Formats: sequence, structure tokens, C-alpha cells
Amino acid sequence: MTAPTTAPARAHTPPDWRQDAVVYQVYPRSFADSDGDGCGDLAGIRSRLGYLRDLGVDALWISPFYTSPQADGGYDVADYRAVDPAYGTVGDADALIADAHALGLRVIVDIVPNHCSDQHPWFLQALREGTASPLRSRFHFRPGRGPDGEEPPNDWVSLFGGPAWTRTTGPGGTPGEWYLHLFSPQQPDFNWDSPAVQDEFRAILRFWLDLGADGFRVDVAHGLVKAPGLPDLGRHEQLGLLGEKLVPYFDQDGVHEIYRSWRSLLEEYPGQRIAVAEAWAKSFERTARYVRPDELHQAFNFKFLNAPWDATRLRELITTSLAAMHAVDAPTTWTLSNHDVVRHASRYAEGDPARGLRRARAAALLMLALPGSAYLYQGEELGLPEVTDIPDDMRHDPAFRRSDGGNGLRDGCRVPLPWSGRTAPYGFGPLPGGPTWLPQPDQWADLSVEAQNGDPRSVLELYRSALRIRRTDPALGAGRSVEWLDLAPGILAFRRDSEQGALVCTVNTTGEPVTVPTGGLGTLLLTSAGPQSCREDATALLQADSTSWWRTD
Ligand code: NOJ
Ligand code: MG
Repeated sequence: MTAPTTAPARAHTPPDWRQDAVVYQVYPRSFADSDGDGCGDLAGIRSRLGYLRDLGVDALWISPFYTSPQADGGYDVADYRAVDPAYGTVGDADALIADAHALGLRVIVDIVPNHCSDQHPWFLQALREGTASPLRSRFHFRPGRGPDGEEPPNDWVSLFGGPAWTRTTGPGGTPGEWYLHLFSPQQPDFNWDSPAVQDEFRAILRFWLDLGADGFRVDVAHGLVKAPGLPDLGRHEQLGLLGEKLVPYFDQDGVHEIYRSWRSLLEEYPGQRIAVAEAWAKSFERTARYVRPDELHQAFNFKFLNAPWDATRLRELITTSLAAMHAVDAPTTWTLSNHDVVRHASRYAEGDPARGLRRARAAALLMLALPGSAYLYQGEELGLPEVTDIPDDMRHDPAFRRSDGGNGLRDGCRVPLPWSGRTAPYGFGPLPGGPTWLPQPDQWADLSVEAQNGDPRSVLELYRSALRIRRTDPALGAGRSVEWLDLAPGILAFRRDSEQGALVCTVNTTGEPVTVPTGGLGTLLLTSAGPQSCREDATALLQADSTSWWRTD
């Protein structure tokens, strides 16, 4: 798959790649399997770097590949400086980074500082040594409430369902203290007041930076600091990541001190290293605090991901996002999917898969025309839908079992990618008929990379074209604002100027074709649904659920 390069060199490189990078998220278990065990691995990723270079992205973000019992897909880390044997070795990570760099791709690794695995040596030792252990202060251990301490220390509920506390067992099997875990019981939360925790993470950052990583995606960046005394929430509801209210376990002011220290550490390294925050805050303004000039560089824009397919709503949201990030001088980011949410081709479908795919194509061109950085999730460039029929007993998401199957259907977006061939594993692994850790649907042959390659109607070729134009057109990429155009109801339209002319992006979010005047649009450069008839009467027909890019000189 390491074909010769087709992605053009960037014609307009901003002085800082962090202003507008397109980052491709690799979920390592599901990307490519080199050894046929059914589980993706680092050598698999390495063998497909040419594909990513040809797709035209600037960087990969790789979800955790560290030593882990995989209670939460690797977001339960037992050793932050080692690679899980299922994925390879630190030597493989080294080689992967080196190969990526040779192809002009940067590599962002995932850092998980809010919690570790219950198999982390610190936690094991803290359990073993009992209440007197000095290591207990690195976590949140507390006696229970009630006469025999049989009630959890406070009323917090885990994001994966059930209480956010688990009781330990003391010597001789007697019930002991409780420990806090905002996620599964296998993911004890660190206590970030502990200097040992702070020092350890600074050392872990250095370990990966020294190995050549270009930066970090910071998991649950808003969760590290808890309100002093761990006060009750006062209501017994399931924690939501994207809440409207300030809660004692998220977005506490103290967290910013940590990121200031990380920022100065990153700046000791050459080559514009990056940190991007997974920070679900209640408003854009609160999210923007994570990317102030002396903190992290970017934060995910989850409100864009969650937005309905509606021109008015999207315009509001884009305007607010740009303004909030501009105020702190940070680039805005855009994302449609990741490994935690229903794939957008299905999210947008509202019962009609064809509509979902139309909108997914249109949304991709919208996202890639906006100022700032875009994050793509593996497989969206193939138009993959959510897999909804995974048998219960084959699901891995811990939230599935902890919430009686009601929540946590995250396996459906994590199914191994189809690369080639007519039957599973579709080139994911080397062996015909070989295993995959989650079953792939029978109908995925036409969605494979091989099937879409060279087909101008395919989602893959649409992404390749869009990314190629984005790399060469000076009106795209970095920027602070867009100029809105009012063309017709249901049409989102904006212009981006450059010294070499303007690019106009029109998005028809309605389910009907809409005729708009062509004055000011220019010539059609790319469309998610065509043909777009440019009529003699100076009007253009924008197809239902479509986006088009137009160029004027
Ligand atoms: C956010 C990650 O994206 C998700 O996959 C994980 O379960 C939680 N953080 C806990 O680490
Ligand atoms: Mg493997």
C-alpha cells in the first residue's frame, strides 16, 4: 500500500502547522492487522502510512496503544512507557514515527492522565499496602459513609453507569476504603494534587517527545482536578460528558495550572509539538480557556460534532466557535466522528442510509472549507456506517454492560476497516477468512479502499480531491473568520478570501434541490453531489444535502 506519492506538496504552508492541520485518527485495534491475530497493530499502521500520505492528511493521532488490560479499549493504561504486546513494541512505535516523518506525516499520541488501569503498579501497591500506604494519596481513596462505611463517599455516578466508587477489600477479606473512578472500576482516577502524579506525567510526556512524537491528544483533559473535599453533586443522575452545569469533577479552575506546565515543557522541544484537549466544557468560552496562549494548542469542537444538519444552527455554531477561539488566539477545530460516537453517515441518516451518506459527504466538504484544523476518524473517508447488529456477547465497550446495554454502544464505530477483497476480513489482516476482534458486516466489500480507489463517485476520492485542493488553495486552511452569504433559506454559504481570489462554499442542508443565483459564486471546483447545473439564466441548482466549492479569481 505504500504507493508513490500523489498528494501534492503544500502550496501554502502556514508558518505553524498547528493552525490548520488535518489530523486522521487511528484506532489501532481496528486499523490494520499485520500478524493475523485479528487485532490491529503498530506494524499494520506502519504498512498503511502511504495510504494516509496519499489521502493528503498532515498528521495521525493514534488512540492508546500502551500496555493495558483493555477494560476500556486501552484507555486503561497499566504502563505509560510500554507498548501492549498485542500492538507491538516501543521499537515498533519508534519505527512508525520515523517512517511517518519520512513521508511528511506527524504523529500525535494519546495521553491518558485522568486515570490509569487498576493493574498499574502504583494502584496495585496502594491496594496491597492498605490504608497506611503512601501511594494511596496518588488516587482518591476515602472511607465510606454510613455506620460501617458501606455507603460510597459521595453521590457521584460513573460515566459508564453505576457508582463512581468501588470498595476495596482489606486484609482477611474485610471491606476497606473506597476509590474513585469516573469511568469503569478498572480505571481509578489519579489525584492530581499529588506531586508524584504531576512529576510522573511530565516524565511520560518527555518519554514520548524524546521518541519523536509530535504531541498529544489529552484524554478527559477537563477532568484531572476535582473540587476540594469531593462534594456531593446533590443529584443522582448519570454523568454526561457534555453537561450544561459546572460539576465538581469537571472543568475545575485548577486544571489550567497543569496545562501551563505542560505547555512550557512542550516548548522546550523543537518542531512545533502540539497538545489537543478532549475537554467537554459547558460553553465555547469555557473550552477556549484550555487553549489560551500559555496552555494547550487546540481543543476538540464537540458541539459541531453534535450539531443537527440545519443551516441556521450550523451557522450560529460556526460563528460562535470562531469567535471564542479567536478571542484566545487559538485555531478552531472541526470533527464529525471519533471512536466514542455513532459514525456520522448513520447519525445524519434519520432512518434513510442514502440520506446519511449524502449528508456525510456534504458535511466533510463543509468541515474542510472552514478555517482551522479538522479531525477525521478512520473509515469516514470510506463513508462507513455505524455497525448496529453486533451480537451482545461480542461487544467490548464497558459502558454496554454497566448500563444494561442502554448506553455505550461504542463498538459499532470501532469495527475493523475494510481494505480490499470481497469477504471478511477485507484485507484488514493478512489471512483470507482470518479473524477480526469485532465482526465485519457481510456487505462491506464495496466500501473497501480497493473498491473505491479511482472511482470518482466514491467517498474516498471525494476526500482525496478535497484534501488535495485544501493543500494547494490559499483560501483554505488557516484563518479566523468567514464571510457569510445569504443565498436562500436552508443554504449555508460563506466566502473565504485570499490574495489569489476567493473560495465560496455552499451547503444545501434541505432535502430538496435549491436554485441560487450564481453571481459571485465563480466556477465549480468540487461538489459532494453533482452534476450541478449552471444554467444560462445565471442560477445554479444545489442538489439536496450537498456541498459545493466555487472559485473566483
Ligand atoms: C474519552 C475516550 O475518548 C474514551 O474512549 C474513554 O472511554 C474515556 N475518555 C475514558 O478514558
Ligand atoms: Mg495484530
